[in-house]
Amino acid sequence: MGDIRTLAGTSPATTASALVPGPDPMVPRRYVITRVRQDTRDTFTLLLDPADGAPPLEFAAGQFTMLHAFGVGEVPISISGAPLEHTIRNVGAVTRALVEAAPGTEIGVRGPFGTTWAVDDARGHDVVFVTGGIGLAPLRPAILDVLAERDAYGKVLLLYGSRTPDDILYGDQMRRWADLNGVNVQMTVDNAPYGYKGRVGFVTELIAKAGFDPRNAWAFVCGPEVMMRSAAQSLVARGVPKARVRLSMERSMKCGIGLCGHCQLRELFICVDGPVLPWERLEPLMSVREL
Ligand SMILES: Cc1cc2nc3c(=O)[nH]c(=O)nc-3n(C[C@H](O)[C@H](O)[C@H](O)COP(=O)(O)OP(=O)(O)OC[C@H]3O[C@@H](n4cnc5c(N)ncnc54)[C@H](O)[C@@H]3O)c2cc1C
Ligand code: FES
Repeated sequence: MGDIRTLAGTSPATTASALVPGPDPMVPRRYVITRVRQDTRDTFTLLLDPADGAPPLEFAAGQFTMLHAFGVGEVPISISGAPLEHTIRNVGAVTRALVEAAPGTEIGVRGPFGTTWAVDDARGHDVVFVTGGIGLAPLRPAILDVLAERDAYGKVLLLYGSRTPDDILYGDQMRRWADLNGVNVQMTVDNAPYGYKGRVGFVTELIAKAGFDPRNAWAFVCGPEVMMRSAAQSLVARGVPKARVRLSMERSMKCGIGLCGHCQLRELFICVDGPVLPWERLEPLMSVREL
């Protein structure tokens, strides 16, 4: 099943003897969990180092890996930081095994897979990140890419929503981005206890009044599907071109490399055509509820 890479300088029509097998994308590489950080009640960040001592995998913002808890199963999780961090919400058997693993435990990692946020395309423009709950984790590497070259971009906004104040992810980091990097961070929660001083309401409600130039903006959106659909519609209603609104899709996955069809969304295989896709491509698919 290993993919085949041609040797440098040879044509694609070269003979089999001049071909070398690449690493098999179905074989997990062993990594050691070096640290587990609890972010919220049910969400944890795993820091990983390769068990073989070789450099960790290289990735681009937006890509995901298949994480394998040996003896339990394998799940797709977006990369949330370098050299290799994954932020995981405990929702079922495999995610529970991963977040409950003690430092020193070995897990398997395949990838990185999938398309990227490609935030470079937004250089010279305003950038609006719209995200809800754990959706901030897949966006974090894109936000850090923008902040690493802050002067290359116009206004940078981060509109973030969570279910309750206790579910806010990376709260300290968001405050730092606002204070040190000039990011306009606006937070809201769906529900709050009596006396809560922050904003209450859905994150999509922030889009209408947020201070950016829609015709000059790019938007990067990640969160539950219903929230992403509504966010994309609000961004387009304000005048952001559909091709400049990118979303990260989630589907059930098995292989991660376009073989099994588990992640199919009509003509798209989300593991290879996505997870990051433009709204102009997704709009007709996301308005059909059964797909
Ligand atoms: C490209 C991609 C990136 C992802 N990135 C992250 C991430 O950064 N952090 C993170 O915590 N999770 C992420 N997920 C979701 C994660 O893969 C699922 O939560 C995980 O597969 C659940 O497995 P489980 O065995 O723990 O739970 P299961 O027992 O399989 O499922 C528990 C519950 O979660 C639901 N569920 C399962 N898989 C998904 C899914 N793909 N999307 C939505 N609901 C699902 C089930 O319907 C069920 O209600 C990502 C998914 C994809 C496809
Ligand atoms: S997960 Fe197998 S085709 Fe996408």
